[in-house]
Amino acid sequence: MAYGVLGVGAIGAAIVTGLCETVADPPRVLLSPRNAEIAAGLAQRFATVDVAPDNQAVVDGARVVIVCVRPQVAQPVLGELRFPADGVVISAMAGVSVTALKRLVAPATDVARVIPLPSVARRAGLTPVHPPNAAASALFDRLGETVELADAKAFEALSASTATIAAHFAYLNAIAAWLESQEIPAPAARRYVAAMFAGLAEATRSGDRFEQLAREHATSGGINEQFLNGLERGGVFEYVSLGLQRVLDRLNTT
Ligand SMILES: NC(=O)c1ccc[n+]([C@@H]2O[C@H](COP(=O)([O-])OP(=O)(O)OC[C@H]3O[C@@H](n4cnc5c(N)ncnc54)[C@H](OP(=O)(O)O)[C@@H]3O)[C@@H](O)[C@H]2O)c1
Repeated sequence: MAYGVLGVGAIGAAIVTGLCETVADPPRVLLSPRNAEIAAGLAQRFATVDVAPDNQAVVDGARVVIVCVRPQVAQPVLGELRFPADGVVISAMAGVSVTALKRLVAPATDVARVIPLPSVARRAGLTPVHPPNAAASALFDRLGETVELADAKAFEALSASTATIAAHFAYLNAIAAWLESQEIPAPAARRYVAAMFAGLAEATRSGDRFEQLAREHATSGGINEQFLNGLERGGVFEYVSLGLQRVLDRLNTT
């Protein structure tokens, strides 16, 4: 099976890396020429990866094409390509509906959306697929796990929830920055915060309710309870819900 990738940026490169790095029998992958530097780097690293002369050559050379360009250029990039009727198109673009996608890649009709995260590079992703699609699940099962969703609303809500990732890192940065202000050297501060949160990530795999984990870590009258109450009073958690709704509204109108 050959895969084509249109748009070789952060997520396109993560997908290719997961498919090929230390894999005994990696698939053939044909990359679009942009981004030239990232595409050339991947082709150099992996023997089964080639860079196509243009986007149409990607579509012509691979039955399954993964679209990893930004949503803003979906129309100009896909609109000028000729897709075969029996081709499969898998889109990672946030906010581009299946209906819009089908219009852009007609006469191809075997179309799905996915929400890959950078962890696919380590084959540790849990990738939502909508609508259920054999080729998309086969691809992303190679990169971790998949969850197939028939419901477009549920898929879009999961997509919106990924808008919280940058804020998570900014939160870690705020903690590390405060430690630095207490004269702890920056590398030591980062290392400490990274170790603390990496350890907590393990707890989230237990399947316990997050609310329960929060309660367990907030000893009555203790410092965790004090800090948590402060964030609650500051409206942080209320904003999480409001901010996510705004993201969802935006995704639904693009
Ligand atoms: N990053 C994530 O974690 C993530 C997660 C889920 C979904 N997504 C989705 O994946 C898509 C890509 O995101 P990203 O973070 O990977 O963005 P990105 O790093 O900016 O990658 C987009 C790539 O598209 C290329 N491109 C631009 N115009 C092109 C054209 N005409 N033909 C072919 N390629 C073209 C860009 O090349 P140049 O550098 O030469 O402009 C760039 O390499 C977005 O739609 C986003 O919603 C991303």
